Amino acid sequence: VKVLLMYQPSAQHLSALAEAAPGAEVLVARSEEEAKQLVVDADAILGNRYFLQSLPFARQLRWMQSNSAGTDLILRSGADLQGIVITCARGLYDDEMAEHAVALVLALYRGLHHARDQQHTHRWNRSALHTVQGQRALVLGWGGVGQGIARRLLCLGAAVTGVRRTVRDTREDLIPILGPTEWQHRLPETDLLVLALPLTDETYHLVGEEQLTALARGARVVNVGRGGTLDEDGLLRQVHTGHVAGAALDVLEHEPPAPDHPLWSAPNVLLTPHTGRSLEQPPYRWEPLFVENLRRFSAGAPLLNVVDQGAGY
Ligand SMILES: NC(=O)c1ccc[n+]([C@@H]2O[C@H](COP(=O)([O-])OP(=O)(O)OC[C@H]3O[C@@H](n4cnc5c(N)ncnc54)[C@H](OP(=O)(O)O)[C@@H]3O)[C@@H](O)[C@H]2O)c1
Repeated sequence: VKVLLMYQPSAQHLSALAEAAPGAEVLVARSEEEAKQLVVDADAILGNRYFLQSLPFARQLRWMQSNSAGTDLILRSGADLQGIVITCARGLYDDEMAEHAVALVLALYRGLHHARDQQHTHRWNRSALHTVQGQRALVLGWGGVGQGIARRLLCLGAAVTGVRRTVRDTREDLIPILGPTEWQHRLPETDLLVLALPLTDETYHLVGEEQLTALARGARVVNVGRGGTLDEDGLLRQVHTGHVAGAALDVLEHEPPAPDHPLWSAPNVLLTPHTGRSLEQPPYRWEPLFVENLRRFSAGAPLLNVVDQGAGY
């Protein structure tokens, strides 16, 4: 078995990989050119970097392990992935993501973005603020990220409902769960809409202007999943009319937005630069997953975090 790493591994991580797959030949691509050469007879690729560029040269690739929780960039690239199992890094960043989402929610309710703007111009203006306590929250996406957000919102006193694509139980952890055809009816009773969705054909612009105008007046919107799941132009219009009181976005359809994009300066919009999962220093949180999945791959055992390419996540 030949395994190609698309990153520079630490000595410790490299020896853990070697131990996990004793018979495997583990190679490191240090440049795109090298990746294109080494991929030709590789059976497995670990890491995103150079993957799409080198894929056309692969002859016997059977498995690719991504460093990301969302694999939309790979699945929606148009690349031929036939015969290749993709595994993702879901689950590793749930706590960080959920904390970030709740930070955005609290910032919107407590006006932290306005306070910071005022601080920059030495103003000390007090205003009426709002609490999450008692708010009706709808969390779109019931993966580890959505569930982590929901649990934290419950602690803040919100009434939380979750939404997933395939409803197995209508209540999970005491939280009501709705399916893809039911949640839209809940929008008029939603004060806080949180998006924690993967980007797929089904979720592209799933929340459009129609859904935003259906929200309770003065609702707030937070997106930490993928930018393309929310129609940003519709959102900007609804923030402008005041129907949506505020929005906080960690992800945008085009990142970063163009220098003259109206999102930069909309007063009731708070942006963070895709830092729900922030930059990491080694040892990376995905290293143990890569080692475990390589162990399974070389033993012919089922891999963790297999992406359903038909469903798109
Ligand atoms: N901002 C960041 O830095 C950052 C970091 C990590 C991840 N992300 C994004 O966050 C997304 C969610 O992460 P995760 O780990 O929680 O993902 P996940 O485990 O794949 O869960 C995705 C959830 O979305 C639901 N879903 C999919 N399509 C749907 C539809 N059409 N209607 C309603 N629900 C739908 C799924 O339903 P089922 O439960 O029925 O399958 C599942 O509950 C990732 O895909 C990634 O794009 C962003």
